[in-house]
Amino acid sequence: MTERLAPERNLALDLVRTTEAAAMAAARWMGRGDKIGADQAAVDAMREVLRSVTMDGLVIIGEGEKDEAPMLYNGESIGNGEPPKTDIAVDPVDGTTLTAQGQAGAIAVIAVAERGSMYDPGPMVYMDKIAVGPSGAGIVDIRLPVDRNLTALAKAKRVSIQDLTVVVLDRPRHDGLVAEIRETGARIKLIRDGDVASAIATAWQGAGVDILMGIGGTPEGVIAAAALKCMGGDLQGRLWARDDADRAAAEEQGYDLDKILTLDDLVSTDNCFFAATGITSGDLLRGVRYTEDGISTQSLVMRGRSGTVRVIDAHHKPSKLREMGALHYSRRAE
Ligand code: FBP
Repeated sequence: MTERLAPERNLALDLVRTTEAAAMAAARWMGRGDKIGADQAAVDAMREVLRSVTMDGLVIIGEGEKDEAPMLYNGESIGNGEPPKTDIAVDPVDGTTLTAQGQAGAIAVIAVAERGSMYDPGPMVYMDKIAVGPSGAGIVDIRLPVDRNLTALAKAKRVSIQDLTVVVLDRPRHDGLVAEIRETGARIKLIRDGDVASAIATAWQGAGVDILMGIGGTPEGVIAAAALKCMGGDLQGRLWARDDADRAAAEEQGYDLDKILTLDDLVSTDNCFFAATGITSGDLLRGVRYTEDGISTQSLVMRGRSGTVRVIDAHHKPSKLREMGALHYSRRAE
């Protein structure tokens, strides 16, 4: 007889409290033109709540090195120190400029997986990426030309190429890529920032995007890989050097710029957890709202093993939080 196992603890349900706290803290800075202030508020809030999460966590990806933003440091121990041993990738604000300017699509995000399973990009801050939802998994290949990938994806989705929407970060480095996509007839959504939310959106029914292509942050690539692992999508990457200094750093530390990083290279286990909360409203999540009743947040919570994806709408009561001494992370920006 098959033994029935009780469901294990779903760490993601604890983690969502950390992204909610980060989002509430950052959202107070919406439109204030201060991206460092928003990031710092989110980092502080996330770090504070992470202390109460039962895990012995090690930060593998602490976003921030690229632009010297406030961050949770690589190698920092997080959690209350009790098992399980985990790797952590955090981005308390993906979309600091979006937040500072009150634009759509900023999220607070965290991914956690069993110890030793997350890719450590070392000094490499940029990665060429291709991300798709479940219908594109096993269909697209980052080594293939753009038109071949889009043809294959359209066929798998039973639509024409003209029906596809490709998300690309709006950067001069993508001029060639954008021209190639236009050549195929596919639609393009150029985003200012925030390629974690866009990568996840490719796997989210109703978000209206089919594939993400182009060069973005490596930390964001690992984080999005954890989410797509939970959702059954795919993300492939290839480290990208901005200049000779990047190339030298890669060589010195043994990073191969030609290597294709598969989803399993980026997160090698399905024993992974993911949570994201909207800061400003976007295709994926509603942003933080303040009403006379309190503060509302919307989050995505996922677990790799079960494949369960939850949308959590939460209502936070500032008066109660204040009583608990926990209001600091939702305090108004000075
Ligand atoms: P920040 O929130 O740290 O500003 O990152 C936003 C972002 O757009 C990421 O989503 C993306 O991966 C990366 O920056 C792209 O880097 P760059 O802005 O240097 O092209």
